[in-house]
Amino acid sequence: MQTKQLGNTDLQLTRIGLGTWAMGGSDWAYSWGPQDDQQSLEAIYRGLDLGINWIDTAAVYGLGHAEEIVGRAVRGMRSRPVIATKCERCWDADGQIQPCLKRASILAEAEGSLRRLGVDVIDLYQIHWPQPDEDIEEGWEAIGELIRAGKVRYAGVSNFSRAQLRRAQQIRPVHSLQPPYSMLMRESEAELLPYAAEQEIGVVVYSPLQKGLLTGKVTPAWVEQLPPDDHRRGDPQFQEPRLSANRALVDGLQEIVGRHGRSVGELAIAWVLQRPEVTAALVGARKAVQIEQTAGAADWQLTSDEMAQIEHLLDRRRQAVGGP
Ligand SMILES: NC(=O)c1ccc[n+]([C@@H]2O[C@H](COP(=O)([O-])OP(=O)(O)OC[C@H]3O[C@@H](n4cnc5c(N)ncnc54)[C@H](OP(=O)(O)O)[C@@H]3O)[C@@H](O)[C@H]2O)c1
Repeated sequence: MQTKQLGNTDLQLTRIGLGTWAMGGSDWAYSWGPQDDQQSLEAIYRGLDLGINWIDTAAVYGLGHAEEIVGRAVRGMRSRPVIATKCERCWDADGQIQPCLKRASILAEAEGSLRRLGVDVIDLYQIHWPQPDEDIEEGWEAIGELIRAGKVRYAGVSNFSRAQLRRAQQIRPVHSLQPPYSMLMRESEAELLPYAAEQEIGVVVYSPLQKGLLTGKVTPAWVEQLPPDDHRRGDPQFQEPRLSANRALVDGLQEIVGRHGRSVGELAIAWVLQRPEVTAALVGARKAVQIEQTAGAADWQLTSDEMAQIEHLLDRRRQAVGGP
């Protein structure tokens, strides 16, 4: 699988990284419903077999559970994958999630992540959300402390605006940015992606499949059968009027992939990877077969004609929904 250097770090990341949000399982605010741990482990092993060399997780996914699963997967490996995790989403004894960027909290969070992951160093430590805004500097300085202590190799941010990136850069370099980016979430194209490229900040984009929507499987009946605690039930992209427009888009994409014998999911991932600023796409999977069906996107170069056809389909969808 092709790799690309993450910004100005020495990390050579495969163009697909494995996302583990859904592996957090049930019983927390942003759950994807129940998840079988064995299936999660098999998805991780299969992803690594397919050549993926890095995994993205976060302390908050399953309130520590996804990190524990990643830790179980990599334990004892002679050459383990690069591990990226995130801090700032804290939770109390009742599982209520609160943002916190205070120094003491970040330092304690890092210890918890190191323990759950079972590693001596976190390869890429990211601030999950820039909240509370007024504590960005304090949290970022604390991550600098963790680098100096040898507990973190590289530091990144997620969901930051350009102005927030600049504030962090005044303190110490930002090695990576993790924004949402998919055919349906293109807000970062205007200024964030060009700014990151200009500043040599690596870009790892999340939810390229729009949480499974851009695989072609999502119908009203599919949404209806989601478990009550799958947060996608409340996501407007999975509800009318957007759902019909999204399905019409997927139908159009099917015509393009049919010529290649590939899947719509692969096309959705290949499309985000065409942006020159993008280092890699984070692709979620909750069972081995899912990553088998998407990993091939890492090496798929779309033609300019195909990109133009996709743009046309996206224009049609925008007109149908009257916005992005
Ligand atoms: N920094 C942040 O704020 C942030 C936010 C979101 C995500 N992320 C990171 O980015 C990663 C990827 O994003 P994501 O997980 O939101 O979404 P995604 O990659 O757009 O979609 C992943 C989901 O799509 C479904 N899927 C995957 N492959 C499939 C296939 N071949 N066929 C059918 N369905 C398939 C699976 O869910 P089902 O089987 O349940 O449909 C899977 O969990 C996350 O895991 C996380 O590491 C970060």
